[in-house]
Amino acid sequence: MKSESIVIIGAGVIGLKVALVLAEKGYGHYTTIIAEHLPGDTSINYTSPWAGANFSALSASDENALRWDKFGYKYLLDLAAKDGKNAFVKETASIEYWDELPSRAKIDSMAEYLKDFREIPTQDLPVGVAFGVKFTTITVNAPTHIRYLLKKLTQKYGVHVTRKRVSHVSYGYLSRDTKIVFNCTGNAARELQGVQDSKCFPTRGQILLVKASQVQQNVMRHGKDYETYIIPRPYSNGNVVLGGYMQKGVGTSDTFGEETESILSRTKALLPVLDSDRTEILSAFAGLRPSREGGARVARQHVQVGATGRPGILVHNYGAGGTGFQAGYGMAVEAVDTVEEEIKALGIQSQPRL
Ligand SMILES: Cc1cc2nc3c(=O)[nH]c(=O)nc-3n(C[C@H](O)[C@H](O)[C@H](O)COP(=O)(O)OP(=O)(O)OC[C@H]3O[C@@H](n4cnc5c(N)ncnc54)[C@H](O)[C@@H]3O)c2cc1C
Ligand SMILES: *[C@@H]1O[C@H](CO)[C@@H](O)[C@H](O)[C@H]1NC(C)=O
Ligand SMILES: *[C@@H]1O[C@H](CO)[C@@H](O)[C@H](O)[C@H]1NC(C)=O
Ligand SMILES: *[C@@H]1O[C@H](CO)[C@@H](O)[C@H](O)[C@H]1NC(C)=O
Repeated sequence: MKSESIVIIGAGVIGLKVALVLAEKGYGHYTTIIAEHLPGDTSINYTSPWAGANFSALSASDENALRWDKFGYKYLLDLAAKDGKNAFVKETASIEYWDELPSRAKIDSMAEYLKDFREIPTQDLPVGVAFGVKFTTITVNAPTHIRYLLKKLTQKYGVHVTRKRVSHVSYGYLSRDTKIVFNCTGNAARELQGVQDSKCFPTRGQILLVKASQVQQNVMRHGKDYETYIIPRPYSNGNVVLGGYMQKGVGTSDTFGEETESILSRTKALLPVLDSDRTEILSAFAGLRPSREGGARVARQHVQVGATGRPGILVHNYGAGGTGFQAGYGMAVEAVDTVEEEIKALGIQSQPRL
């Protein structure tokens, strides 16, 4: 079937953004997403619904990260302006503090494109903070944003979606028509048979979901061995995400009372309006960021499929770590670019852009 010409394994924000880039190029009807978990589901093996999510200067400082961030910021800013309410993304005032000076290259790069960016004068910084900035961030209501993406892909662009777990990379080649498979499996990239990647590891975060409609801004504080953040969820009737943790190599889905207490005391100190009778704790969650030593892997590979060993192309796009929402669009554009020639050679009649 033509709809299986291009297969994407994974329906987290990474797989959905790859599908979106393909659909915007006119290939929606030729694309099938297969995934064990779909938007609307919750599982410790499905990271995307647990994200804050915001755009933050916390990401890495290598060339890839800087480029993907810039791309992602512009994309989200544009989406917030054109369709923010439906997409659950919104411009939000943000403050970020560092207890130790961040890299200058990183700050200079962000200063170039972040809206309303300015450094906070030293005398205005809280005690113990070495550096701080203000800018307009984009907050994303992660669970509803991925549902929006799925709906848009299926209803507007004709992308096919099948719930299914594959146990080996070659099962992504659904039929003889399947020429290209995208591997967007997040944390599963470590275990799935075919090309196990030992550089992958989970980074656990515990978060609290609270109702606190008095909170209208983002605040983050990056400590030496802690991460504290407050992120209002856009279009959610006052829900706010409080965090958090960055525990490398920890893979449990359990949540811990002492971490909840620590999050509450740190976030209240950072933003005193939280410390109010109006703040109601709704729940605690843990999520696992799909991290990878050296950063995300966006690369193509030739593979042999099935018993006949016919040639196929596998495009990897996993290891987004803590930045899948902010960097995902840039990663998707580059993943699709790696197979530009092959997509054209499929002889597919590109659909006009809607
Ligand atoms: C607490 C927390 C806060 C975060 N905050 C932010 C933030 O503010 N900003 C930001 O940019 N990022 C944030 N992140 C990171 C972000 O959530 C991740 O980078 C992103 O969700 C990764 O998406 P993914 O698509 O790679 O993986 P996932 O969302 O885990 O999706 C993986 C998909 O692959 C499927 N799959 C895996 N194996 C198989 C298989 N064998 N067969 C079939 N399907 C399979 C799964 O079912 C799923 O559909 C946060 C993460 C956490 C935990
Ligand atoms: C998550 O994935 C791991 C590794 O594949 C598996 O062992 C575990 O049972 C899964 N957990 C859940 C809750 O699905
Ligand atoms: C805020 O954004 C950074 C970078 O994208 C991310 O690592 C962090 O987890 C986010 N915080 C929350 C609560 O999502
Ligand atoms: C995705 O890549 C990872 C890491 O290389 C590998 O373990 C996994 O088998 C691949 N999965 C698919 C479905 O291609």
